Amino acid sequence: MTPLSPARIALITGAGRGIGRAIARALAQQGYHLALSARRRAGLEETAALVHDAGGTTDLFPADLCEPDAAARLIGDVVATCGGLDVLVNNAGQLLVKPFAETTLEEFDRLLAVNLRAPFALTKTALPHLAERHGAVINIASSAGKRYYANQSAYCATKHGLLGLNKVLAKELRAHGVRVHAVCPGGVYTEMTTQHQANWREEDLMSPHDVAAAVVYLLALSPRATVDELPMRRVPAEPVWG
Ligand SMILES: NC(=O)c1ccc[n+]([C@@H]2O[C@H](COP(=O)([O-])OP(=O)(O)OC[C@H]3O[C@@H](n4cnc5c(N)ncnc54)[C@H](OP(=O)(O)O)[C@@H]3O)[C@@H](O)[C@H]2O)c1
Repeated sequence: MTPLSPARIALITGAGRGIGRAIARALAQQGYHLALSARRRAGLEETAALVHDAGGTTDLFPADLCEPDAAARLIGDVVATCGGLDVLVNNAGQLLVKPFAETTLEEFDRLLAVNLRAPFALTKTALPHLAERHGAVINIASSAGKRYYANQSAYCATKHGLLGLNKVLAKELRAHGVRVHAVCPGGVYTEMTTQHQANWREEDLMSPHDVAAAVVYLLALSPRATVDELPMRRVPAEPVWG
């Protein structure tokens, strides 16, 4: 349902659950119209219902970002349906926990496609639309982009790559009037974490709403200030410096 009055429009990938869903709810409260994307429509419909309960509006765009042309198609569909784009949240991602020796090239290519190629391609296609509205890109990276964890070679490589991309875009897109931010959370209580680390307790992890609050903070910065990278950690974890 597209709003009648002009609203700022945010596209959130990976909005079918977890951190993407929390960001959707938080940005709806800030008055954004939401373009929600993930592979499965069922998850998007659940997120949309929560947003509608809070008085927000949504359009749904199911897409598999591992497909080579999905990013260009998604941005085209969002702009055609919603009338423009102010904020792109590159949140969709996949984790793989496996020793390097057992990780296949197919698995590596899949993580590369969704965690790094998709943010590159989405930002590239969205750039003229974001520039028109002095918009912003938020890359949901990870502490795995700053640290290194055994059995996460593909995940760490793609998240380090995403932070490399974020650094260059933060510099280059100044000329286009587009701000670029990365959020680098450590452990957050979502399906991604519970699937791979069954022994983690909810109270020892961050909430998806903590990450959503960081996104709201970044988007609310004054025109005179910006934050390029925002590392976040669960309280029991080691502090992150640099
Ligand atoms: N949880 C953590 O501890 C943590 C920490 C640091 C960073 N992060 C990052 O935060 C982001 C969100 O993570 P999360 O914990 O919320 O994960 P999650 O609960 O597994 O949710 C991932 C979302 O991405 C979508 N997705 C997965 N593969 C996709 C594909 N090929 N094309 C399009 N959408 C796809 C999923 O929906 P469908 O399955 O329907 O496609 C889902 O909506 C990820 O980038 C992750 O790396 C998470």
